[in-house]
This record gives sequence, C-alpha cells and structure tokens, in this order.
Amino acid sequence: MPATTLNDFQSSAADLERAASAAFAAADSSDSLEKARAEFIGRSSGRLLELQRLVPTFEGPDRGIAGRAFNDLKKALEGRLEARRTELESGARASAPQIDLTMPSRGQFRGAEHPVTVVIEEIVEIFREIGFTVATGPEAETEWYNFTALNFPPDHPAMDMHDTMYLAQDVVLRTHTSPVQIRSLQAGPPPIRVVIPGNVYRLDPFDASHAPMFAQIEGLAVDEGISFVDLKATLTHFATRFFGATRTRFRPSYFPFTEPSAEMDVECRLCKGSGCPACKGTGWMEILGSGMVHPNVLDAAGVDSEKYTGWAFGMGPARIALQRYGIPDIRVLYDSDMRFLGQVAR
Ligand code: PHE
Repeated sequence: MPATTLNDFQSSAADLERAASAAFAAADSSDSLEKARAEFIGRSSGRLLELQRLVPTFEGPDRGIAGRAFNDLKKALEGRLEARRTELESGARASAPQIDLTMPSRGQFRGAEHPVTVVIEEIVEIFREIGFTVATGPEAETEWYNFTALNFPPDHPAMDMHDTMYLAQDVVLRTHTSPVQIRSLQAGPPPIRVVIPGNVYRLDPFDASHAPMFAQIEGLAVDEGISFVDLKATLTHFATRFFGATRTRFRPSYFPFTEPSAEMDVECRLCKGSGCPACKGTGWMEILGSGMVHPNVLDAAGVDSEKYTGWAFGMGPARIALQRYGIPDIRVLYDSDMRFLGQVAR
C-alpha cells in the first residue's frame, strides 16, 4: 500500500517547491543560503528526502510518475539554489569598496610663506651678501628708545596719543624699527652693519594704503669714515639686485634721527614710469626713508660721534610686495584670502 495517494504526493511536491524557492530567494548571505539548502535538499535530513522515501511505496505506473515528479523537483530546486548562489556572489562584489588604482593621488596641502615674508627674506638675503647681519628688538618699547634717543624733540606730534599706541606711561607699541638702531649701537662697538626686520604700529586707519600694523626693515651701517656715498651706493645696489635694472632717485627729506635725510624712489614697476594710480601718476614708488645717522643719536647710544659716522634706512616691505605683485590695495595682504595667496605662494 502506498503511504499516500499520488495526488497528495504531487501536491506535497508543489508545496515543497514553493517553500524552498521562497527560502532560497530570502537568503541574503551565503550562510543563510546554506541553511536553506540543508533544510530543503540536504542529503541526510532535507525535506526532499522525505518525498524521495515515498516513491518506492507506489506501485505500477504510479511509481514511475512519482519518480519522475521527484526527479523534476530535485533538478528544479538545485537550479534555483545555484542561481541564487551566483546572485549573492556578484552582489557581494558590487557592494565591495570600489578602488580605482588609476586615480591620481590626492594633492598634499602645504602652507606657504606670506608674500610680505617672502619679500622680507629676499631683502635680508641681499644685505647678508654684502656683510650685514640680522638684529631684532621688542615691539613694546619705551618712549626713550622709540623717540627720545632718536633725537625727537619732547613735543613732537608723533608722540601724541592719537599718533601712537600707548601700552602704559612711557611704554608704546613701537612706531618704527629705528629704536633697534639704538639697541644695536649700545651692543656695539662699531663697525656695525645690521638689518632689522619687524612689525611696527601706528594709529592709522585701515585703508588702501595704510594699516595700523605693518612690517619694516631697518638698516644701519656705522664705522669710521662712512659717508653719504656709501648710503647711495649700497641702496642703489640693493634696488638693482631686488628689482633688476631699474631707475632710482633720492629726494631730500626730514627725520629727526638723520641729517641729511633722503627718501628713495624706484621707477614704478606697474607702469614702467609712465604714471598710474598705484604711483599716483608720478611714475615713481617711494620704498624707503634714509639718511646719515644724526650725531645726537650716536651720542645718546654712547657711540663717539667725533670718531664714527653712519647711515640708516627704514623700508616698508608691504609697499614693495604691492609693487612686485601688482596689488592695488594693501588690505589684500591682511585678508588671508587663499585665491590671492595661492597665486603668489612659492
Ligand atoms: N623710521 C623711519 C620711518 O618709520 C624711517 C627711517 C629709518 C628713516 C631710518 C631714516 C632712517 O618712517
């Protein structure tokens, strides 16, 4: 006697096919697919095995029908299992991180020197080549170093509260790097040849050509027999080295700490001397103030003004940077705007 009717056998086979197909489709990893495989078509205990055991209980032609039904079901389920396995494997490949080894490497971001720093270093280097050393001094100075020792008369307007930033009675944020002339002379004795880069402070508004804080480079040469010829020759050499072949001119000027005094102009780099807004139509760009060190300054610093003479200059590297890079507004140098800084970074 068959354990079941052929009809029941066939509907069990159809149920099993549906259940196994659903389980294979639901498996979302090779582990869960393996579990479903063991449950439905596992050789030792799968549900397909139960059906297989019924086949020999049929007799006559029914046994052949049941046998074929069983074989078809087994083939169909193995086919579904294999298809799902392939699907899962290619899905795993697609969701793996995609690395394109032919991509160019990510650019490294390195900081760069500010254009004013670049200019300062170039200027200092040019003076180093001709025997100058570098000195520095404090940004908070006493009135004596900043003004008195530099031969400013006691009522000079630069000492007014509205021109100078006072930190305390007699202590100011230095208005120029010239007080380091005094410190260098005191550290003496001559011969002295120094350049002095540093920041200075003035109660100036922030506009296209002024800033309340800016850099200066001071220069000082003191020895026996130094004359105005040395000043002109050295500063002209500097301008030629820094700007290349360029015209220069000296104009008489006044500073309490130099006598005689002169301002030095170089031909405007932007218009080549024909006149433009950057040089206010003159064709010339003032780059520094200079002069022969006043004997009172040497005396105040304890250097014998009968024996020694010298010259000094003070220049503004920001102005020079504007010229070099063709920048119309000094505030650009303070903006930290990468679109500008990236163009001049080296
Ligand atoms: N200290 C002057 C200024 O700031 C510049 C200067 C320096 C002039 C040395 C002459 C000599 O304007």
